[in-house]
Amino acid sequence: MKRLLLIVSGGIAAYKALELARLAAKAGYSVTPVLTKAGAQFITPLSLQALCGAKTHMDLFSLTEESEMGHIELSRAADLVVVVPASADILAKMAAGIADDLATTLLLATDKSVLVAPAMNVRMWEHAATRANMALLKARGVLVVPPDEGPMACGEFGPGRLAEPPVILSAIAGLLGKNNMLAGRHAIVTSGPTHEPIDPVRYIANRSSGRQGHAIAAALAALGARVTLVSGPVNIPDPPGVDIRRVETATEMLKAVESAMPADIAVCAAAVGDWRTTTPASHKIKKNSTPPALQLMENPDILAWIAAAGPQRPRLVVGFAAETQNLTDFAAGKRVVKNCDWMVANNVAGTGIMGGQENEIMLLTARGAEAWPRMDKLELAHRLALRIGEVFA
Ligand code: C5P
Repeated sequence: MKRLLLIVSGGIAAYKALELARLAAKAGYSVTPVLTKAGAQFITPLSLQALCGAKTHMDLFSLTEESEMGHIELSRAADLVVVVPASADILAKMAAGIADDLATTLLLATDKSVLVAPAMNVRMWEHAATRANMALLKARGVLVVPPDEGPMACGEFGPGRLAEPPVILSAIAGLLGKNNMLAGRHAIVTSGPTHEPIDPVRYIANRSSGRQGHAIAAALAALGARVTLVSGPVNIPDPPGVDIRRVETATEMLKAVESAMPADIAVCAAAVGDWRTTTPASHKIKKNSTPPALQLMENPDILAWIAAAGPQRPRLVVGFAAETQNLTDFAAGKRVVKNCDWMVANNVAGTGIMGGQENEIMLLTARGAEAWPRMDKLELAHRLALRIGEVFA
């Protein structure tokens, strides 16, 4: 079991450290909490202790604490030290090497990697002193989960909001390697386009690169799931740690999915062609004056098939909806019609999303719609995998 030393410093975002503690404990980390005096103005040692299932350390000069475990030992017993939220003050002390309380002493005494997630007023974040401190800390190898941009508790707007706890957890998981939130679970992920043959050399396809589906497969595997990735033809590397089944057509994709069942999780990120030619020509169609008229028929709907799989239906079925208009309405309708639990919707009209590196989605669940900011497909995959992990925690 990997051990985290979680240092909570002062700031309104301290309440989010409680959520991080909860998620980290659920994800199987052993979490030892340390609360600064300023942090204790915002949350109580007791709530931190309850969520971590371990004593909250607060005092540098406590004889009882020192006799249980000396502070040097405490700083080294962890696999990773995380400071969430990291206030401007604690960052300044870290940069200057000041050790005037338990948290800063631990930070100076540790021989382990340190990850900080800063949170503060936008002006403090942008102040030259904070910038210089951050540059110095980064140069010394301190790892940073940068703050988000958005409305702040102080009424201002800008960068300075603490990153969301799942993002911080995903950074922790990335640093410490695999955690086991999804151990023992089987996930089927479909990814990429399908190629529907017209004749032996031509086919009907779409712009899907497979990047998002492949990243989700890797992110689920990183959380300990056994992953079967059913992929259409793509030009990207195989993700590590997954069992990959390569297919060309929608019919083949459905067969591969059927044979991979049962599963606990299904994520249908493939852009499955809606139609195929009724009878693909067995020889290359010759170019002549009249172009051939293609007779099309509907392909099987893999997502709908999985979601209607009766007792074999995975506990969590996630569909994707790429739309070019009326995103939320279409996607919400699709979630219900296809009987899936979550629908990941994105507007692909002129955004460069399809085939690109970044994605911007709405997550539709039975509880409603959540707009996620635009982010790298890998990060989105990690966030989504952690959300899936929470369902099974
Ligand atoms: O094409 P459509 O917008 O209906 O796709 C929505 C979802 O359904 C996606 O998750 C896609 O992977 C899935 N799908 C499928 N089989 C199809 C068509 C779509 O699994 N034939």
